[in-house]
Amino acid sequence: MTRAGAMVLFGITGDLAYKMLLPALYRLTADGVLDLPIVGVAKTDLDLAGLRERARRACGGADDAAFEKFAGNLRLVAGDYREERTFAAIREEVAGAGFLVHYLAVPPALFGTVAQGLAGAGLHREARMVVEKPFGHDLASARELNAELLKYFDEEHLRRVDHFLGKEPVEDLIVFRLGNMLLEPIWNRNYVRNVQFTMAEDFDVADRGAFYDANGTIRDVVQNHLMQLLAILAMDAPPSKDARAFIDEKWRVLRAVQDITPSAVVRGQYDGYQDTEGVRPGSTTETFVAMRAAIDNWRWAGVPFYIRSGKALPTTDLEVVAELRTPPVTLFDGELAPNLIRFRLQPDAGVTFDLLAKEPGEDATRPVPVSVDFTKVLGPMEAAYQRILTDAVTGEPRRFVRFDLAEESWRIVQPVLDLPEPPLPYAKGTWGPAAAAEMVRWHEISTTFD
Ligand code: BG6
Repeated sequence: MTRAGAMVLFGITGDLAYKMLLPALYRLTADGVLDLPIVGVAKTDLDLAGLRERARRACGGADDAAFEKFAGNLRLVAGDYREERTFAAIREEVAGAGFLVHYLAVPPALFGTVAQGLAGAGLHREARMVVEKPFGHDLASARELNAELLKYFDEEHLRRVDHFLGKEPVEDLIVFRLGNMLLEPIWNRNYVRNVQFTMAEDFDVADRGAFYDANGTIRDVVQNHLMQLLAILAMDAPPSKDARAFIDEKWRVLRAVQDITPSAVVRGQYDGYQDTEGVRPGSTTETFVAMRAAIDNWRWAGVPFYIRSGKALPTTDLEVVAELRTPPVTLFDGELAPNLIRFRLQPDAGVTFDLLAKEPGEDATRPVPVSVDFTKVLGPMEAAYQRILTDAVTGEPRRFVRFDLAEESWRIVQPVLDLPEPPLPYAKGTWGPAAAAEMVRWHEISTTFD
């Protein structure tokens, strides 16, 4: 792991840079974590002063000493990624900087072009390349893209971003799972009846119609974010703390996830989606999905993992609920509610155990639900990108997606990409088509409790 002496940021005038990367880089400068030249590259009419002004706006109008320092580190190369002279200009800007990190916040169709341009200017040696999502459009295109990048950078020097892996609550989850003994004895097929992942967003696709329509929910969040979460939740404990051991365990569990079959999937599209700018008339892209995954290994065989996600749902929440089996012999009146372990990831972070306790008073036969709640205050919004960018500079690989993980995730969802049947309609503000509700008794998620 070599620490970079300069960052080359492709797509510095784009949306992602504006919303996430520039504010995070500024914070990292203010916190004394990063202080290095940042060479922005974009096809733009802006000059360096214009870029610095744009960065100031992106950072909420910051005008402190930290911003001045950050702005002072910014450089700009305005040019076309297909032209040699663009890369010659970058080479001049980074001369003497040492090891480089190239951060590609550009559409994936340009990854190969940029990598080739870098190699043409010798900027691929002593360098690492970081690419944003999506990595491929399906299994075949992900493999093709990877083969293209491997011509210029080996896996050791490639980093694929999944910003979920930078989130504070995801780190919390790892510590909770692997730092406590409480969970491990029951974290298997003997005690867990099913696991339910919900990633709900109450907003619609808004101005992202063209992007979203070409992708849909499975590509947008299931193949990447939710498969990564599933891997972290379901994996075995790594044998050591090095990043490679951690990533290997994630890979091992993804290997055991069976291909999703079309009959285990309900796809939905909210009413009015087709009127969105950028959406093709008659589009069959899903804006909601519910699916059942199976992990065929000794820990999880026979335990269904349900995943649902969508836009225009009743709430914005990310939660994973593990439903435990009920005691084998019932000693109390009525049906026993199962114990639940809830991992709450957004908007607040924490873990809740839903248990049963005796109702106060004489009657010992009536258990009542109680919740034991561990809540933690979330870090700042841009914290995920602060971690990703810091790791990009230091070379720490744990929070990136190694190719074999991306490949397994594409393999898992491949059979249900581009299904010919149109998705089922659902009204905005509901939990998707009725068929999704019938898949399993979904537990209400915490924030929708009364
Ligand atoms: C992105 C998806 O990767 O993740 C979006 O493209 C989604 O559709 C977003 O809204 C969710 O991430 P976060 O960090 O805002 O919860």
